[in-house]
Amino acid sequence: MISQEVARTWIERWDAQQQAYLPDREDRFTAIIDAVEGIAGRPDPLVLDLGSGPGSLAVRLLRRLPEATVLAIDADPLTLALGRSAFGNVTGLEFCDLDLRTAGWSAGLRLERAPDAAVSTTALHWLPQRALGALYAELARILRPGGALLNGDHLSEDDTAPRLQRLERALLQREEQRRFPGGHAESWVDWWAAAAADPALAVLHAERAAREVESEHHGSPAGRLSVHVRALQAAGFAEIGTLWQRGENRVLCGLLPG
Ligand SMILES: C[S@@+](CC[C@H](N)C(=O)[O-])C[C@H]1O[C@@H](n2cnc3c(N)ncnc32)[C@H](O)[C@@H]1O
Repeated sequence: MISQEVARTWIERWDAQQQAYLPDREDRFTAIIDAVEGIAGRPDPLVLDLGSGPGSLAVRLLRRLPEATVLAIDADPLTLALGRSAFGNVTGLEFCDLDLRTAGWSAGLRLERAPDAAVSTTALHWLPQRALGALYAELARILRPGGALLNGDHLSEDDTAPRLQRLERALLQREEQRRFPGGHAESWVDWWAAAAADPALAVLHAERAAREVESEHHGSPAGRLSVHVRALQAAGFAEIGTLWQRGENRVLCGLLPG
């Protein structure tokens, strides 16, 4: 068992290191929550958070929309355990240990009604391309008619637009320098090294390694905007577009017919 206080401290460090990769992280969360509010049409939407980590987006969404239910889905036992210990008392929040690469993963949610939206931040670029296509097809099947996917991630232009690609990266770097002129204390790698060195997290860390959640993370085609757009089109999403953007950091929205 990890105490709530210890878990919250780890999550504060998590949030700080995530911000090192996207200076607008909080603005992106806000844009996604605004969009959920706009799409839901009810005060108690059912929302899936795909690759939730310890629940940073989920808890912010529930602060804004306290009648919502968020199913926070991840395959990493360590961040799931931190989320459960830190936010176990948050009404409407449930953590679900599921691998989004597994066909039929949504059966594990035991849904009683169709979700209004699926949200995600900095997670879906981890998926192999075929798994991304299958994920979007599964979402098209389980979301309610008119439901939405809201995917906040670094999604780059194709190599056919190299200058645009460079410009989008440069915008992020400039914003990073403006907001954090002193840099950041801890990187993603530092955070994981610190977690691995904590005896309280060692077993969870070993289990994470065994699950190989990260195996196809780097260089997956799922880091490209066009791959997502095509996969959403193939899955049957009717309207697809970028709702919010700074450089390559964007919120891609897919709306189902309905
Ligand atoms: C960079 S973290 C982002 C976490 C969180 N969304 C945030 O913004 O803080 C990426 C997350 O995606 C999760 N993830 C990657 N591949 C996954 C998969 N196949 N199934 C479920 N979760 C996955 C990782 O375990 C990790 O928690």
